[in-house]
Amino acid sequence: MDQRTEKMGPSTLAIHGGRPLTEGAHALSMPLYLTSSFVFQSAQEGAELFAHEKEGFIYTRMGNPTVEATASKIAALEGAEEALLTGSGMAAISTTLCALLQPGQQLIAGRVLYGSTLTLLKRMERRCGMNIRYVDVTNLDEVRDALHLSTQVVYIETPDNPLLGVADIAGIAALAKKVGALLIVDNTFATPFNQRPLALGADLVIHSATKYLSGHGDLIAGAVVGSRPLVSAVREELKEKGAICGPFTAWLLQRGLKTFALRMERHNANGLAVARFLEQHPRVERVHYPGLPSSPHHALARQQMKGFGGVLSFEVSGGLEAGMRLVNAVTLCTRAVSLGDAETLIEHPASMTHATVPPEQRRAAGITDGLVRLAVGLEDPEDIIADLDRALAACC
Ligand SMILES: Cc1ncc(COP(=O)(O)O)c(C=O)c1O
Repeated sequence: MDQRTEKMGPSTLAIHGGRPLTEGAHALSMPLYLTSSFVFQSAQEGAELFAHEKEGFIYTRMGNPTVEATASKIAALEGAEEALLTGSGMAAISTTLCALLQPGQQLIAGRVLYGSTLTLLKRMERRCGMNIRYVDVTNLDEVRDALHLSTQVVYIETPDNPLLGVADIAGIAALAKKVGALLIVDNTFATPFNQRPLALGADLVIHSATKYLSGHGDLIAGAVVGSRPLVSAVREELKEKGAICGPFTAWLLQRGLKTFALRMERHNANGLAVARFLEQHPRVERVHYPGLPSSPHHALARQQMKGFGGVLSFEVSGGLEAGMRLVNAVTLCTRAVSLGDAETLIEHPASMTHATVPPEQRRAAGITDGLVRLAVGLEDPEDIIADLDRALAACC
């Protein structure tokens, strides 16, 4: 026992005793800085850190080594200068839009987006005086016609959720630049394994890191990726909004990232195999998957994507009731929302992920009541197909 701790009581020792775990241990695995605050070596150092005269960490809401090291891996995957992590994909979207848009400025948004993103946009329109125009972003002419000098941001998902429509990132980026607007791409479905929007001219990439990036269905997180000035603007907003990703979540996320490329290869292969099976099935009316040559988005997808991911959606004959019966009849596929996990997940967008979108808006976007979404997992493809085959025979 050293002199400093010799006379301390058990309560103090439990807190201050022993050797602090500091640098120099050379752990192979990323160290987890599970701390809210960082210690200043002197009053002077604290003041310098707050005055931005010195680099370092102060408080985890403002920055944490584990969180930043994990974010830097996502920046590297997207070929970006900088990335930050948030507490969820929705936190990434809301914080970014709040940071970049002023009341009265125009936002052009894809007509088909994740349900909660559409709900968020509606709320921002009502509460923050945002001027939002929804267009079919898979049609470049519609985007061109909607763009205006007051357009500040164009916000798209490609492939979109849940119809897997593909937007021309390079084409939209060029149009947006002409009026000085920023292009933000939600790259959750494609991931940087299959598509790198920044290289195609987008200004920022958003992720629900809950999905393929982490890959194990055990965390909720988001990411914002792009140039240093733009990510810094979002970071300033995030510090006050406080919707951060905690260090333990970031640590789990970096662990998942170690197998990211391997998982994506399998998701791509399994997604394509299941899409091909469903396309030829007599009880399936339509399959939405950009990897199928029959898809109207196939040519563009082949141009800007390396693979097509594991998410697809389809309509079965018999509409809504048959779709619900199918969701109930599967035994290997798991009834749950989300995507990018090891397990194949099946859900019904109209009553689940897109239930908050008014029915008329859903129908206008092409999301029928009978649509079923499948997030194909990492199981053996024959087993996923056998489960779907059995369920389709039983219910449609
Ligand atoms: C395309 C897309 N973006 C964003 C989100 C929101 O992400 P999170 O659930 O991590 O907030 C989702 C969630 O399903 C999504 O599918």
